[in-house]
Amino acid sequence: MCGIIGYIGSRKAYPILIKGLHRLEYRGYDSAGCALISEEDSDLHIYKAKGKVADLESAAKGKDCSGTIGIAHTRWATHGVPSEVNAHPHVSETGNLTLVHNGIIENYSTLREQLKKHGYHFQSETDTEVLVQLIEYVMSKTGEDLATSVRVALKSVFGAYAIAVIDRRHPDMLVCARRSSPLAIGIVDGDGEFFLASDASPIAEYTKHIVYLKDEEVGVIERGKHLKVYDLNGAETEAEVKEIDLDLSMLDHEGFPHFMLKEIFDQPNVLKDCMQGRIVESPYSHSPQVILSAVTSNRRRLLRARRIVIVSCGTSWHAGLIGKQLLEHFCRIPVEVAYASEFRYSDPVIEPDDVVVAISQSGETADTLAAIQQAKSQGAFVYGIVNGVGSSIARESDTGTYIHVGPEIGVASTKAFTGQVVVLTMIALALGMAKGTVEQDEYEQTIRELIQIPEKINRVLEQNDKIKQLASRFTFAHNFLYLGRGWNYPVALEGALKLKEISYIHAEGYPAAEMKHGPIALVDAEMPVVFIATHHKLYQKIVSNMQEVISRHGRIIAIVTEGDEQVKGMVEDVIEIPETLACLAPLLSVVPLQLLSYHVAVAKGLDVDQPRNLAKSVTVE
Ligand code: F6R
Repeated sequence: MCGIIGYIGSRKAYPILIKGLHRLEYRGYDSAGCALISEEDSDLHIYKAKGKVADLESAAKGKDCSGTIGIAHTRWATHGVPSEVNAHPHVSETGNLTLVHNGIIENYSTLREQLKKHGYHFQSETDTEVLVQLIEYVMSKTGEDLATSVRVALKSVFGAYAIAVIDRRHPDMLVCARRSSPLAIGIVDGDGEFFLASDASPIAEYTKHIVYLKDEEVGVIERGKHLKVYDLNGAETEAEVKEIDLDLSMLDHEGFPHFMLKEIFDQPNVLKDCMQGRIVESPYSHSPQVILSAVTSNRRRLLRARRIVIVSCGTSWHAGLIGKQLLEHFCRIPVEVAYASEFRYSDPVIEPDDVVVAISQSGETADTLAAIQQAKSQGAFVYGIVNGVGSSIARESDTGTYIHVGPEIGVASTKAFTGQVVVLTMIALALGMAKGTVEQDEYEQTIRELIQIPEKINRVLEQNDKIKQLASRFTFAHNFLYLGRGWNYPVALEGALKLKEISYIHAEGYPAAEMKHGPIALVDAEMPVVFIATHHKLYQKIVSNMQEVISRHGRIIAIVTEGDEQVKGMVEDVIEIPETLACLAPLLSVVPLQLLSYHVAVAKGLDVDQPRNLAKSVTVE
């Protein structure tokens, strides 16, 4: 978590840093800060504030923001409470160096004690402060320049870092480095102007040319010169310049009050983008087919798989649970779904032919990244399903399919979930066809239905006002239960997660039939119970579960298939979704739950896009 940004060039750095921090605010927003080397007095000017980037802007208002070199940070606290003193940038003992950091320095307390013995004083409770002090210590002992001192200092550091550091005595140089935390450097050709950031979103409007630093690489950026990249031993490495193509309109609200609502409404269009070029008309038949380059080019390797293990976290884990059902149904391969954070430390059994599927919106989640590194080291073949183009997980995977739903800024994941499920459906269909485990009729029917999903989501979105009105009657609740079965069980988990993240109401998702084994004890007139009861083979059973809740005076909200008269006759609050195949129902049934949690949170006056304690990209363990 945390977002870092840096700039060196001929423009004023401050507005670029602030705009960039706003783009990175999804990564953390409990405090922010920036450091500039002033054009007026050639000194370092550092501004910090507890709170959001807007608070930093207030703190810097009217002050000297004249520099053309600077670094900045938006924080998600790990070590030390959110406060001005713990906010980055941190400054070295002499006041010459200042540094921003994303990650966790695991041996910080040992380093801190050692540095204290050498006369260094610490102002903050952070792990980061040791880095800037250590670099200065190395510099003073060796007499080396900033770049070499950073390199040498980092050799003594355990943990994860993306850092940017500047020296007030050298206003033409910015040094950066990474290990396990992302760092992108944007290069404006010919101008010697550079941008660096935790992801490409703050850079994309200035240049398309990006270098993603690799683990244990140090970037030396000098005004007007070429970027140089070194490994920690000082050997120069090749900086591979990638061309990025980011749709900047996706980075704005576009008239919606919040990113989350915009992203919910984005779903019909971005899911079309996700299928674009992958569901194609066959030249040999009248029906469309799925062509995924990752499946086609790794066909033999994937066909050898006797087991698939899906690793992911949070919402992506919920998508993984649907992926399990899709892959088992269409490909007849046993699938396990593991929390990446558990998998990585579980001494997992990986057989030579196993395929590990990593699902991640950001492509930067530390646990998922570590899980695939672990799996690869044991010989697994890794298939990434990622949104973040060029992200660490995308790069670390052996092959993969991007979900292509555009940047997701709202902290609560919405369009990434449906994008992941669409990609998993396409993979299951393509692989099932290659294996011969799916009948042609079912294959064609599923594709035809998948193509209809964006329009059907539009029909769900038309009920936004109704769901808003319904939500306003449920803000009283302290607990919610979400129940679903089969394909809709992961949707129940996802609905509950969405509600707790942004409305701070405790919610649990359960398989509906499990309710009578415990959770039913919680049901009373104060307990809203959301049933996902669309038409599929377990429909009548879930209707019976609903009766059990009604008998105990629970307040039901039911998600049903259009035209369902039975449930409408039983409960007052019903949201209808269009008919589709059971395996595609989650793509529709999740949408009213996204809207429900959004409207409950808004009605409670909460900060939907930046809920407390959370950050979009969890790049620490
Ligand atoms: C929930 C949410 C998180 C993420 C989780 C994994 O709304 O956003 O639970 O799903 O942190 O993140 P990614 O998918 O980026 O690996």
